[in-house]
Amino acid sequence: MDGSKALELADLEAVGPGTPAGRYLRLFWQPVMRLKDLPPGRAKPLEILGEMFTVYRAEDGTPHVTAYRCPHRGTPLSLGWVEGESLRCRYHGWRYDGTGQCVEQPNEDRPFCERIHLRSYPTRDYAGLIFAYLGDGKPPPFPRYPDMDRPGVIVTDPVEILPCSYWNRFDNDHCHIPWVHRATALRTGRNDLLVIRHERVEETEYGWRGHRSIKGEEPGSETGLGKAKLTHWFMPNVRLFFAPCRAKGFQGRDLWDTKMVWTVPVNDTSHAAFDVTHTPVEGEEARAFAAARAEQEEEHDTRWDLAEKILAGEMTLEDLPADMTAYTSFTIEDYCTQVGQGPIRGRGKENLAPTDARLVLMRRLWLREVGALTSDRELTNWKIPTEPLSAGN
Ligand code: FES
Ligand SMILES: [Fe+2]
Repeated sequence: MDGSKALELADLEAVGPGTPAGRYLRLFWQPVMRLKDLPPGRAKPLEILGEMFTVYRAEDGTPHVTAYRCPHRGTPLSLGWVEGESLRCRYHGWRYDGTGQCVEQPNEDRPFCERIHLRSYPTRDYAGLIFAYLGDGKPPPFPRYPDMDRPGVIVTDPVEILPCSYWNRFDNDHCHIPWVHRATALRTGRNDLLVIRHERVEETEYGWRGHRSIKGEEPGSETGLGKAKLTHWFMPNVRLFFAPCRAKGFQGRDLWDTKMVWTVPVNDTSHAAFDVTHTPVEGEEARAFAAARAEQEEEHDTRWDLAEKILAGEMTLEDLPADMTAYTSFTIEDYCTQVGQGPIRGRGKENLAPTDARLVLMRRLWLREVGALTSDRELTNWKIPTEPLSAGN
């Protein structure tokens, strides 16, 4: 059977173990938590890809991802204590070393530790994020991105969790900007955001590339968009794009952020966005820059309450406080349109337009690859470029 024909988009919303999309996503390393949200010596529960895990950082800071429950009688190991590189269960004190091997059963006269192994997953930290390989068998080589490995400052934003499918974010195309972000653009005088853009998309050896131009202009002609004309997508779920640096004190010069966003399902009806920005500033300037970016974290606590009020019709996006940072109002605007779409099957029939080319390509690649996986055909071996994409144009 040709699996790609049988599958449809709504079949990709389920992400748990054994589901078509869940199996595909588990073939790749995925970010699961921001490193700074878990101090060394702490354990926390983690829900990702429709499964529960325990994640902890050893006292030396090394991250570990393990099964959620203790193999003894199922208590969440996130309740336990970190001791050196090992984790001790809160219920009866069994202790597991950094490989998951049980090494202590303090209540037992005749311990049988050698027979008990806690499932643990290959884990790495990179770009301020904890990554894990949650699939079976040997993990693929850990993907590094030359754009993030250049000299400069990396800022890893608070993880954004939206109560909708990861597809709602995948489908968030460039054409939404002058409409969804209209209120922010008008409030902050960002007329550039109101310009309607078109995008040509093409498959590449790493996923796809989008090339934007201003509506009515020939693609490739001088548009004044600078690096913002390009978007890259690394299959299966990583976007890379460029934006003029907007940190306080750093605007108005030719300084470009390279932004990467990993969109990872938390479960079938919510997803996390892990957002990492690289800015090419170094030395003394790098310290001032990091401090300016840290200020932006403060508005995060109330933003989704406001978004829910807007969705409920109690206020409008134009009513957001005038002094709110554009960064925060942007996320509220995106929340309203993406969460508001609801699940794929509940939306009724879509009527796609030529300017939906990006999501048509994305869906085609995903259905092709997941279809190949479920019918045991060969998958595309995506290749991350060895040179920074920010160097191209
Ligand atoms: S449940 Fe963990 S030691 Fe008993
Ligand atoms: Fe947006």
